Amino acid sequence: MPGKTLKRLLITVVLLGGGGTVAAQEQASPPPANHPKVKAFRIERSLSPQALACIECHRAHSPGIFIDWTMSRHAGASISCLDCHQAEPFDADVSQEHFKQYERSDQPYGTRDYRVPVSAVVTPKDCSRCHPDEALQYGRSKHANTVEIMWKIDPWLNQGLNSEIERTSGCYACHGTVLKMTDGRLDPATWPNVGVGRINLDGSKGSCTSCHTRHRFSVMEARKPGACGQCHLGPDHPQIEIYMESKHGGIYEAFGDQYNWEGAPGTWTAGVDYRGPTCASCHMSGAGRVATSHDASERLSWELQAPLTVRPEAFAPFPSGSGWQVERDKMKEVCIQCHGKGWVDDHYTKLDRVVLEYAGTYYTPARAMMDTLYEKQLLDPPLFNERLEIEFYELWHHEGRRARMGAAMMAPDYTWWHGFYECKKRFMDVMERGRELLRTGKKAEAFEPFPGGTGSREKPPEVFAAKP
Ligand code: HEC
Ligand code: HEC
Ligand code: HEC
Ligand code: HEC
Ligand code: HEC
Ligand code: HEC
Ligand code: HEC
Ligand code: HEC
Repeated sequence: MPGKTLKRLLITVVLLGGGGTVAAQEQASPPPANHPKVKAFRIERSLSPQALACIECHRAHSPGIFIDWTMSRHAGASISCLDCHQAEPFDADVSQEHFKQYERSDQPYGTRDYRVPVSAVVTPKDCSRCHPDEALQYGRSKHANTVEIMWKIDPWLNQGLNSEIERTSGCYACHGTVLKMTDGRLDPATWPNVGVGRINLDGSKGSCTSCHTRHRFSVMEARKPGACGQCHLGPDHPQIEIYMESKHGGIYEAFGDQYNWEGAPGTWTAGVDYRGPTCASCHMSGAGRVATSHDASERLSWELQAPLTVRPEAFAPFPSGSGWQVERDKMKEVCIQCHGKGWVDDHYTKLDRVVLEYAGTYYTPARAMMDTLYEKQLLDPPLFNERLEIEFYELWHHEGRRARMGAAMMAPDYTWWHGFYECKKRFMDVMERGRELLRTGKKAEAFEPFPGGTGSREKPPEVFAAKP
């Protein structure tokens, strides 16, 4: 039985420009063609026949996956397909479909001898076997817990204001789905998905591929701003646009190709490896006395995305459990790798004033107007069925955020033209419509709910059952 003995495997992979050749000492399938990269390395390790079967059969069937894996640090360290995809027979996420691959006598590895349960889903729990710190830190972050946060505070979900397809292809693509299996297959309403807070069938949260795409799993990719910009963009959270506008982004554009992106994990150093910070440098990578962290919620002293900005420890849906001053000092430690203390302190003085300006001049009076209108029943209870509600939502969710985020990350165009300037316009709209209703005493025109706005209002039990 091949399954009983471990065979010593030596694969020598030599990938040459244009026509690549892949030579293995064991039975080799035809080599994939047209691979442009030049790279040579050896994998030497005991692999079980089952683990070898994954590599060999997939080399033929999905050469894109195979080659990508051979180029990863994992392949260099002999971490095989099986190390990540193997499942226990009783696991909820076992691919029943995949067992058919072991009933294909037309394939060299398509027999029962090589049969192993596999799962297409590889979760933070799976990675935690070898990367426990990263998984632990990630698990505490707002990234990992965003499905809970969303369901606690977002009217789109709690009031069923959008449809399932709008959610699945919109919200959940960034935030994450609650994975489900139906008939041994992952439910297409929940898969494929690599949202930051995906709820996995093993109970773990998130998907490490949101920043490190498989099968390269590269630190270089995660250190570049584009890795974050896929989700952090657009009218309501334009961090990538803000970054590209900032001096730091300008420096990245000019000098990024000279940065040492491949610096060993945890050693990426300001000044040595890069001369202008990226999203990762400020929010995740180590600097001075501050250690690398997979919890991007660290280092923050405000909840800038909230309607009314509060301190992270006072953010009721998900209090940080830390003190804002402690976290601000961590961020400042990053800045002082390249700046003087005065420069950095003065930056924060301005940010704090922007937060207060937004709250005092725009948010609080507009909120008071809305409250009065609800009280006098000139508006229906909050539902997004009246124009005024949308205007108010955009005041805090769009331009109000842009003003705050722009100031936090040094983008004056976002602070002013896309921010405070637009706040003024929207504020006038809200107040003018509000005063008109108060003057006439006539209820605002209400729209019928959108026909597709039938999304379920039930909080996912996978997240909430465990919590009262
Ligand atoms: C005999 C060939 C063969 C072997 C051996 C094999 N696979 Fe596959 N596997 C396939 C093919 C073909 C598909 C694509 C099936 C499809 O497109 O529906 C696939 C699909 C998959 C999927 C996606 C499954 C899903 O439900 O979406 C994963 C993950 C996977 N294989 C991993 C592995 C791992 C890990 C091993 C080794 C334990 C392995 N495979 C061994 C041929 C094989
Ligand atoms: C370091 C862990 C790791 C290794 C090693 C690994 N994978 Fe994966 N694989 C993943 C992750 C993560 C995903 C994305 C699934 C997810 O988001 O949960 C994935 C996805 C897949 C998929 C589904 C992707 C799709 O687009 O349909 C297949 C098939 C697959 N892997 C096959 C393989 C094969 C074959 C090997 C070995 C050559 C391999 N994997 C090695 C972690 C790994
Ligand atoms: C069986 C152990 C094992 C598992 C499981 C595993 N890894 Fe790794 N990983 C390693 C080892 C060992 C290295 C270091 C390789 C080296 O530096 O040569 C590594 C390196 C990395 C790196 C750094 C790559 C670089 O460019 O320096 C990342 C990122 C990474 N793993 C992510 C993941 C993710 C995400 C998962 C789960 C999908 C995962 N790993 C699963 C063992 C594992
Ligand atoms: C393009 C990706 C993307 C889409 C699509 C998306 N979001 Fe978000 N969402 C984000 C990002 C990024 C943030 C973080 C904003 C920040 O901190 O500036 C966020 C923030 C939030 C927050 C605030 C969380 C907090 O801690 O206060 C909620 C609630 C939310 N989104 C719900 C939704 C809902 C519901 C939908 C669909 C109707 C949706 N999002 C669509 C990326 C997305
Ligand atoms: C929000 C984006 C993001 C997500 C999601 C993410 N990582 Fe990372 N990861 C990074 C960044 C950025 C670095 C580079 C840190 C540095 O500069 O050294 C990194 C580095 C790593 C490294 C190299 C060692 C280290 O800690 O620096 C490993 C291993 C790793 N990640 C594993 C994981 C695992 C496992 C998961 C899922 C639990 C995960 N990552 C999810 C952004 C992410
Ligand atoms: C797949 C989408 C996605 C990617 C990729 C992503 N994020 Fe996020 N990020 C989100 C969402 C969604 C939230 C909102 C979480 C919440 O508050 O509920 C968020 C929130 C944040 C926050 C605010 C956390 C807080 O406590 O308020 C920071 C900071 C952040 N992300 C940084 C990053 C960085 C840096 C990267 C890249 C290394 C990155 N993100 C990559 C989706 C993403
Ligand atoms: C120069 C350092 C720096 C860079 C580069 C940077 N940020 Fe920030 N970021 C900050 C600071 C400072 C804050 C405000 C921190 C606070 O609350 O005290 C912030 C706030 C945020 C927030 C708001 C969190 C909340 O409260 O809602 C998000 C999200 C975010 N950054 C994501 C990103 C992304 C994505 C990138 C890259 C496109 C990026 N940042 C680049 C320093 C940086
Ligand atoms: C890796 C080095 C590095 C780090 C880390 C860094 N910066 Fe910078 N920063 C620079 C450089 C270089 C400039 C360009 C200065 C110039 O104009 O010559 C700059 C410019 C600035 C500017 C001027 C923006 C303008 O448009 O006038 C501000 C403000 C600033 N940084 C604040 C910060 C803050 C706050 C942090 C930490 C959250 C930080 N920086 C982190 C290198 C860095």
